[in-house]
Amino acid sequence: MAHVAVTGGAGFIGSNLVGALVLKGHTVSVIDDLSTGLLSNINTDTSRFHQVSLADAEGVKKAIIDAEVIFHLGARGSVPRSLKNPIATHDVNATGTLNVLEVARATGAHLFFSSSSSVYGRNGVLPKDESMWLGPMTPYAASKLAAEAYVQAYGTAYNVPVTLLRFFNVFGPKQRPDHEYAAVLPKWIWKAMHDEPIEVFGDGSQSRDFTYVKTVVDICLDAMERKVTHDGAINLAYGNRISLLETIEMLRKYFPNLQVNFMPIRPGDVKESQNSPVLLKQLFPDVLPMDFEKALSETVDWLKAFGETVANGPTVSD
Ligand SMILES: NC(=O)c1ccc[n+]([C@@H]2O[C@H](COP(=O)([O-])OP(=O)(O)OC[C@H]3O[C@@H](n4cnc5c(N)ncnc54)[C@H](O)[C@@H]3O)[C@@H](O)[C@H]2O)c1
Repeated sequence: MAHVAVTGGAGFIGSNLVGALVLKGHTVSVIDDLSTGLLSNINTDTSRFHQVSLADAEGVKKAIIDAEVIFHLGARGSVPRSLKNPIATHDVNATGTLNVLEVARATGAHLFFSSSSSVYGRNGVLPKDESMWLGPMTPYAASKLAAEAYVQAYGTAYNVPVTLLRFFNVFGPKQRPDHEYAAVLPKWIWKAMHDEPIEVFGDGSQSRDFTYVKTVVDICLDAMERKVTHDGAINLAYGNRISLLETIEMLRKYFPNLQVNFMPIRPGDVKESQNSPVLLKQLFPDVLPMDFEKALSETVDWLKAFGETVANGPTVSD
């Protein structure tokens, strides 16, 4: 069993991963500043919680110095949020990553980093593969690409074992539906549950490659157990290109009276998104992704049963 640190471990993906690591018997240290994450997402009896900001190099070091494995998922998320305050996004996502890498350089811990498909930005070619050129369109994407660059540099210059995973659109239990920057699926389901109209920015023809959070966790666990490393990034999505309008039709199964308001396109939103999962399947042949409609149904059920636990978290307005 290993001592595993999870930055952003009180957040959506992080807390799902923390739960799975604890179940496997690992010792887990969670680092989070609780800016969007919730303490109630994790069981503090079975994992060690450190309320520390990634910007605090000393605090980060103290909290994870003993870890053999680091999942670095902590980040200031959201494209619109980064457009409002690019420096804050850089400080957490780029400099914060450097702070975590400095610990890995000192200890030799294996670092798994969660980058984002937003780094492809202006590159409109579909499906995406890891050899394509990158063109960040927003400070969020730029901060993730800067972090990717540091992860690769530390892998090469200091022989830190690193694995660079680029998440696409992840969804599922514990994803917050309530705040200004909430992701589209939980936000829509939550509004539909409360008989409120949902908002679509643009005409709804834009597509996303959604991955269920349990599939992401399975990849992370498999990557850790088999110590998977790779020269360069690994895209984490299975090539399911689904338009927002198609997603709305699926949601009508649960919410037949769903009302939709079409709004102007938001700056920074990528029009189409789809991965080519060739490398992913080659590196993780045993992980089978959950079917989108089944995962959507589980997410609706979860939000109906437990949504209140993630719905009234801290306001995220900066
Ligand atoms: N959810 C997605 O679809 C998606 C897509 C691409 C990439 N990602 C990446 O995956 C990771 C996890 O995302 P998520 O969806 O779980 O988001 P999330 O907001 O739920 O989790 C991020 C966590 O980081 C914490 N955090 C933020 N700033 C911090 C700071 N300065 N110091 C310490 N902790 C801080 C937050 O409190 C939160 O708990 C992020 O790195 C994100 O960029 C997510």
